[in-house]
Amino acid sequence: MKFFSTSLVLAAAAQAVPDTQYLRRSLNATASDRLGLKWMGNDTSLPKVLVLFTGGTISSGSSYSALDTTDYGQTSITGEEILARDPLLQTVAQLTVSNWTRDDGNSTGTSDALVMNMTRFAHDALCSPDSDITGAIFTHGTNSLEETAFLMDLLVNCGKPIVGVGAMRPYTALSFDGDANFFQSIALAASPDARHRGVLVAFSDRILSGFWVTKLDSTHPDAFHQTTSGGDLGEFLNMRPYFFNSPSRPVPKHNFNISLVSEHPSYPALPHVDILYAARQFDARLALNCLANGASGIVIAGTGNGGIPNGSDIIAEAVEKGLQVVVGTRSPYGAASPQPDSTWAKSGYVHVIQSRIMLQLAIASGYNQNQTIELFEGTVRKAIRPFGL
Ligand SMILES: *[C@@H]1O[C@H](CO)[C@@H](O)[C@H](O)[C@H]1NC(C)=O
Ligand SMILES: *[C@@H]1O[C@H](CO)[C@@H](O)[C@H](O)[C@H]1NC(C)=O
Ligand SMILES: *[C@@H]1O[C@H](CO)[C@@H](O)[C@H](O)[C@H]1NC(C)=O
Ligand SMILES: *[C@@H]1O[C@H](CO)[C@@H](O)[C@H](O)[C@H]1NC(C)=O
Ligand SMILES: *[C@@H]1O[C@H](CO)[C@@H](O)[C@H](O)[C@H]1NC(C)=O
Ligand SMILES: *[C@@H]1O[C@H](CO)[C@@H](O)[C@H](O)[C@H]1NC(C)=O
Ligand SMILES: *[C@@H]1O[C@H](CO)[C@@H](O)[C@H](O)[C@H]1NC(C)=O
Ligand SMILES: *[C@@H]1O[C@H](CO)[C@@H](O)[C@H](O)[C@H]1NC(C)=O
Repeated sequence: MKFFSTSLVLAAAAQAVPDTQYLRRSLNATASDRLGLKWMGNDTSLPKVLVLFTGGTISSGSSYSALDTTDYGQTSITGEEILARDPLLQTVAQLTVSNWTRDDGNSTGTSDALVMNMTRFAHDALCSPDSDITGAIFTHGTNSLEETAFLMDLLVNCGKPIVGVGAMRPYTALSFDGDANFFQSIALAASPDARHRGVLVAFSDRILSGFWVTKLDSTHPDAFHQTTSGGDLGEFLNMRPYFFNSPSRPVPKHNFNISLVSEHPSYPALPHVDILYAARQFDARLALNCLANGASGIVIAGTGNGGIPNGSDIIAEAVEKGLQVVVGTRSPYGAASPQPDSTWAKSGYVHVIQSRIMLQLAIASGYNQNQTIELFEGTVRKAIRPFGL
């Protein structure tokens, strides 16, 4: 009898719920309804964290051996399967997966267009007035994780956390690092302490800034560090985030307008910008080759604080012909410092890989070379007042 009355109540509830949900969905009251996002987890009091899945080592396996950490990729798992590996995730957040994989499942070769599409989706989901979503994470191949983190940092700025995450070892490996990294990314994106800190990266117990983060080791699980700007923002303790300081903003960071960038003719891709690496006997004619190949800009990994070892007259010629040029440093730390009388920009403390993305966004936003110089050098010039400037 008791069983019977409980079933009746459940049946009544089951009837009422679909009706309200249908009404809500048909009105598209929330971004989740509008974007068709279905949330997993039965505790609706938990924050909603969107999982943007691009793949990466975190979803790759090896058919050779549990000892293989370099030749894997023969097998793969989905974003949903990563979630299913760890029931504890659903004690921290409600989750949903959004796929941004290439057809071949690779994310190391992720294109500008795919990442721009994902960034626009994240911006819409998190920053629209109807957003009901607390934060997002994106899984990524570690080789280009910092590029996507930097791009998203310059384009999505409504205070909600976006956290980059990956793994250095495939899920088939002895001591897979992906499960812990993934849990930490979700705990971070769900945390109110992570708000207003720009894009973050959760890796190997570290909380890193998406603006400053760099992969400094090609294979070690503790591969990610912050260059130039100093230490980590915080770390994970019992898998939960602890920040050392209150929020701050990278001084050279500029928020670009994602709508404006999307109006550029190259969209959904970004303007073509190449990187040249300078060394003894550097052949500056490569800059003219880039121009001939359709590049709108180049970034040169210069020597020391942004030197061009040979052919700076040819670089000046390329600038005159309309190529936008930024010179950074090939050193892992330190600045490419502003110079008087230069017609190209020096990248300041922004590293070469990140400078490429900043130049792409500047060109897509309509900057000319002089505005690009101000964009890259402005904060450094103001602070140090270089001799002769
Ligand atoms: C709700 O959003 C869906 C998907 O974007 C759209 O097809 C539908 O027309 C919208 N409904 C209303 C009432 O706006
Ligand atoms: C949610 O689901 C989990 C696992 O299925 C279960 O252990 C837990 O009791 C459920 N919580 C609620 C509030 O229903
Ligand atoms: C994401 O892609 C996987 C693999 O193709 C698929 O199983 C899954 O249903 C997709 N998820 C969504 C939300 O589309
Ligand atoms: C990744 O892409 C490369 C080059 O396109 C291809 O050779 C490789 O098989 C791909 N790997 C997977 C796992 O699809
Ligand atoms: C990006 O989105 C546009 C518009 O929806 C689509 O045409 C294009 O195929 C997408 N590109 C990639 C690489 O996903
Ligand atoms: C961003 O760009 C769009 C498209 O050009 C424009 O309509 C909008 O006013 C811009 N927003 C801001 C804050 O400048
Ligand atoms: C300097 O560059 C020019 C043309 O770019 C090249 O012909 C020459 O060999 C280079 N000289 C040195 C010393 O590297
Ligand atoms: C860029 O700045 C230089 C030096 O201030 C000036 O001579 C030149 O006319 C400027 N070019 C443009 C396109 O504004």
